[in-house]
Amino acid sequence: MTRWDDGKTQTAPVSPDITDENNALPAKYFTEPDVWEMEKEKVFSRYWIYAGHANCIDEPGDYFTRTVGDSQVIVVRDQDDDVRAFYNVCAHRGSKMVEDTPMTDPGNMGRIQCPYHLWTYDLEGNLRTTPKSFEEASLNPDLEDDDVQEFDGEDNGLMEVHTDTVGPFVFVNLDDDPMSLDEQTGKMKDELEELPLGDYEHARRIVSEVECNWKVFGGNYSECDHCEANHQDWIEGIALDESELEVNDYHWVLHYTHAQDVDDELRIHDEHEAKFYYLWPNFTVNMYGTADGYGTYIIDPIDEKRFNLVADYFFADSDLSEEEEQFIETSRQLQEEDFELVERQYEGLSMGALGQAQLGPNEHTVHKLHRLAQEAYDA
Ligand code: FES
Ligand SMILES: [Fe+2]
Repeated sequence: MTRWDDGKTQTAPVSPDITDENNALPAKYFTEPDVWEMEKEKVFSRYWIYAGHANCIDEPGDYFTRTVGDSQVIVVRDQDDDVRAFYNVCAHRGSKMVEDTPMTDPGNMGRIQCPYHLWTYDLEGNLRTTPKSFEEASLNPDLEDDDVQEFDGEDNGLMEVHTDTVGPFVFVNLDDDPMSLDEQTGKMKDELEELPLGDYEHARRIVSEVECNWKVFGGNYSECDHCEANHQDWIEGIALDESELEVNDYHWVLHYTHAQDVDDELRIHDEHEAKFYYLWPNFTVNMYGTADGYGTYIIDPIDEKRFNLVADYFFADSDLSEEEEQFIETSRQLQEEDFELVERQYEGLSMGALGQAQLGPNEHTVHKLHRLAQEAYDA
């Protein structure tokens, strides 16, 4: 049952059983700043977080940055063609080295140089050069130049972050000893790696700042009970009653059947449906039924009440046809409709009246999201 926060009701942790009355995450977990502080550690520093697409950093030296919780990471392709990630923190005195944004568009650098005192690292993270002032002790009366130690490139290198991939999708993990990415992605990994995802090019990115907690958008993405009332254009081509929601350990998949069969060539995957994967905590892969391409969302929290939606689109060619442009526009419209919904929901949640929501029987994907959050908080 719905629990109003009238000062008498106590909210309980979300129950593992969706038929239980405590089947939603208490509302305060969506609105309290302390929860976001906890999530930085218990969610964003423990699980594998999607960083970006390997095709965006094709050549040695190509890189992009990511902010994960409070940490900034540089993801770079090294000279051996491997993708690596480093904290954006200089090994000298800890300055940030490249500008921070939640997710930069790719750039290229031959070496990673700290602007503060110009320590310079290779793409493997080893310290390569320091200015002359670090090789002699001319200003220090207590030291002779001969006393000056040589810096070991590796010992004074950048701090590396765990990376792993599913197809061309690059993930990072800030934990010292993380669970494997295979465990977190489960059968989603096998399904995605059967597809030629790497053959598709990054064609478009749309970044939107939304005034709402990231989990509220995650919940909205995970169900289509709201579609009939709110996505008139989208449901036109979809047989909603034939949709299927599949729940796995750390991901769930929404299968939507098209009312009319769609030409095979318009799909990267061969099922007669659209397939939307949500991977805990904040990544989605969108396999469309009506476009030969796919998309990804990063639901990137800024704080407890704001997130950026980073929407990327991948097509066979980054030069888009008119139909593909049109497709992205329709997708954009869907996002804007959802932004309105989740911002309205967030305003409601922020009033503090609701203690704990009541989920319906077909909101089991939302329940899964809430459960994973609860498990992370309890760990
Ligand atoms: S802090 Fe980076 S070179 Fe000094
Ligand atoms: Fe929606």
